[in-house]
Amino acid sequence: MVLTVKLTNLVDDYCFKMGLLGEHGLSMLLETPGGKVLIDTGSGFAMDFNIGALGVDLSQVDAVAITHGHSDHIGGLKLVLEKARKLMPVYAHPEVFQERVKKNDAGDLFQTGSPFTREELESAGAEFIFHTEPVEVVPGIMLTGYIERGFDEIKTRSHFVYKDGDLCPDPFVDDQAAVVETEKGLCIVFGCAHSGVINTMNYVEKITGEKYFYGIFGGTHLLQAGEEQLKHTLAEIERRQVKVLGVTHCTGINAKSFFDRNFTGESCQIVSGSCMEI
Ligand SMILES: [Fe+2]
Ligand SMILES: [Fe+2]
Repeated sequence: MVLTVKLTNLVDDYCFKMGLLGEHGLSMLLETPGGKVLIDTGSGFAMDFNIGALGVDLSQVDAVAITHGHSDHIGGLKLVLEKARKLMPVYAHPEVFQERVKKNDAGDLFQTGSPFTREELESAGAEFIFHTEPVEVVPGIMLTGYIERGFDEIKTRSHFVYKDGDLCPDPFVDDQAAVVETEKGLCIVFGCAHSGVINTMNYVEKITGEKYFYGIFGGTHLLQAGEEQLKHTLAEIERRQVKVLGVTHCTGINAKSFFDRNFTGESCQIVSGSCMEI
């Protein structure tokens, strides 16, 4: 079966087009012959503006998938539900609503979890499907569920959760990625890749049996990665024979620039309003 997939970035940190907004966050609309799935919803500020400018009708979306519970991914969910005006299946890990905080350089804590409760979102139309295992959302689009971590790639130490009242480093148990079947090969769409880019690729191989991927898109959380980690990550991406690399959001300018200069395949810009067909 020919599977042409359309990927549209509705919200991203970067925006180079007049008439669209950028914000810290990510939202990607995936359209396949099997259905339309919205991966994440941004922070909730740019979505309304951008869907109007792009002419996106959220009532046509079949399901929403939340890659993890950071506010820059789940913060726009209430608005998405209000715009969709229907009951909407929402896939997420059961820990997606856990309280999470970030510590800034001055040591101050600020909330980074969902700005809405499960009940508030259900009142707006969400029908949550909590899962930890891989799940098919529509034909051709699956979610990984919990991603096994064989390799210590979680370099950020500024994200915390509460455990028995104490602050503990966030293990990002709710982090997941989307896997999209195309006629050119599998593509992986990350939210923030908090489980690690390499761990996610390894886990996708484990659950699909596919060693090689056509495309990698989304946030890779390599903001604080040093040269050694960037080289190792790129070597693993190359080993997977990836042809198109569209990393964005929390990848960071340094890592994005490194990939643009060194990736042997096609390195593309994914920003608010970017649209590509695979
Ligand atoms: Fe993020
Ligand atoms: Fe995140």
